[in-house]
Amino acid sequence: MRIKYTIPIVFFVALVIIEKENKIISRVSDKLTLKQTPQTPLQPSGFSHLLQKHVSVPSLSKDFMLMKRRLENYSVHKKVKKMGRKHILLLATTRTGSSFVGEFFNQQGGKMFYVFEPLWHVEKMLTLETGGTNATAAAKAYRDVLQQLFLCDFSLLESFIDPLPVDHITTALFRRESSSSLCEESVCSPVIKGVFERYHCKTRRCGPLNLTMASASCLQKEHKVIKSVRVRQLENLRPLAEDPRLDIKFIQLVRDPRAVLASRMVAFAAKYKNWKEWAMVGDVPIDDDEVKKLKGNCDNIRLSAEVGLRQPPWLRGRYMLVRYEDIARFPMRKATEMYKFSGIPFTPQVKSWILKNTRASKETSGVYSTQKNSSEQVEKWRFSLPFKVAQVVQRVCGPTLKLFGYKIVSSEKMLKDKSISLIEDKVFNFL
Ligand SMILES: *[C@@H]1O[C@H](CO)[C@@H](O)[C@H](O)[C@H]1NC(C)=O
Ligand SMILES: *[C@@H]1O[C@H](CO)[C@@H](O)[C@H](O)[C@H]1NC(C)=O
Ligand SMILES: *[C@@H]1O[C@H](CO)[C@@H](O)[C@H](O)[C@H]1NC(C)=O
Ligand SMILES: *[C@@H]1O[C@H](CO)[C@@H](O)[C@H](O)[C@H]1NC(C)=O
Repeated sequence: MRIKYTIPIVFFVALVIIEKENKIISRVSDKLTLKQTPQTPLQPSGFSHLLQKHVSVPSLSKDFMLMKRRLENYSVHKKVKKMGRKHILLLATTRTGSSFVGEFFNQQGGKMFYVFEPLWHVEKMLTLETGGTNATAAAKAYRDVLQQLFLCDFSLLESFIDPLPVDHITTALFRRESSSSLCEESVCSPVIKGVFERYHCKTRRCGPLNLTMASASCLQKEHKVIKSVRVRQLENLRPLAEDPRLDIKFIQLVRDPRAVLASRMVAFAAKYKNWKEWAMVGDVPIDDDEVKKLKGNCDNIRLSAEVGLRQPPWLRGRYMLVRYEDIARFPMRKATEMYKFSGIPFTPQVKSWILKNTRASKETSGVYSTQKNSSEQVEKWRFSLPFKVAQVVQRVCGPTLKLFGYKIVSSEKMLKDKSISLIEDKVFNFL
């Protein structure tokens, strides 16, 4: 053999031996088989194939380096898995109890890095004069920011914070205090006199947030959880599921859209003036922008859930659907399920927080007819939402209601009839 081939080949063989020892080769082959696309020309039998086909050394070493990098990437992936580092994205829409469910994870403390609504900044920055955002541009920005944050990199998020952080220091991170990770000792810089921080820590006195410190703290944590009500389509997040550096799982939180609307009509009364008037005159214009928006929201939620429940290969074992109504009625049971799915230990600390903040204690003791009682709480909206409005929601969100197991009401009488629950028992099969 000519000397110029010897060095790369010896190197190559050495690598093969080393990697074989690690029992990686066969799995890499599996991985490459799965990933065979025009961009990945390497065949599963890549080794002999390479040696036969590539005669010129530069080409061999190029492919070889590519292979080596892939192996390295794969090793990183393996390491991530082995170390049990989990990345959880809690996806929801407003008024679905997502802050509350976020607390299930935020309360873990210790090994958890929890971030509350980081995409608020992105949405705000990308809001157009018309009030909306360019959905395509927003989706891409959301995805990229989330991906970086799961890797503890705040730089892209920084570029969306207004005013722009100086030396990675910001006084403006949205709801900093809602992420206990951002108020820990290790992320708490000394208070600076005269500097006002709108979303300051409540648990301890801290100066403005130093994102370099936040990133360092994030890197020390085992698990990362991000909550967001801004992602519209789960499909857009596919690159995160396929990122070998992440072990991501998605929990989608949904709620009866009629209840969401009822809740929004109370919480944002001014914005929903039209709906109230329509209900009064008994006529809701079906082509109104508000109605279209409602339909758009319902469709997005349903389409995301359909993708999740269909379990395409990239999402297999990585998607869970949870209904607000089930969490409200059986908080401990649902929290247990969510933790089991996430692969993160369900700590006594979290359990006690749930006990303190829900009626879960009665759920387990069975002394009260809690299910009935909580069901009443959960379905209270039925007495505030005008039937006419409920009808409109049913008309535009019909398939969404059906998918999640929410019963359609056919009359005012049925809407207000406490003896009929509108929540069907439903088990969503996620692996
Ligand atoms: C390895 O991972 C990095 C970071 O994700 C990526 O940029 C690079 O393209 C990957 N290399 C290969 C050969 O897949
Ligand atoms: C939205 O953003 C994309 C990419 O940034 C751009 O190509 C497209 O023209 C924009 N659409 C509108 C309606 O502005
Ligand atoms: C922010 O934190 C980093 C890391 O601890 C430190 O090096 C840097 O000086 C801090 N920045 C400021 C402005 O204090
Ligand atoms: C339901 O539970 C709440 C709080 O535990 C209680 O105040 C209320 O009276 C109960 N309602 C019924 C109908 O039992």
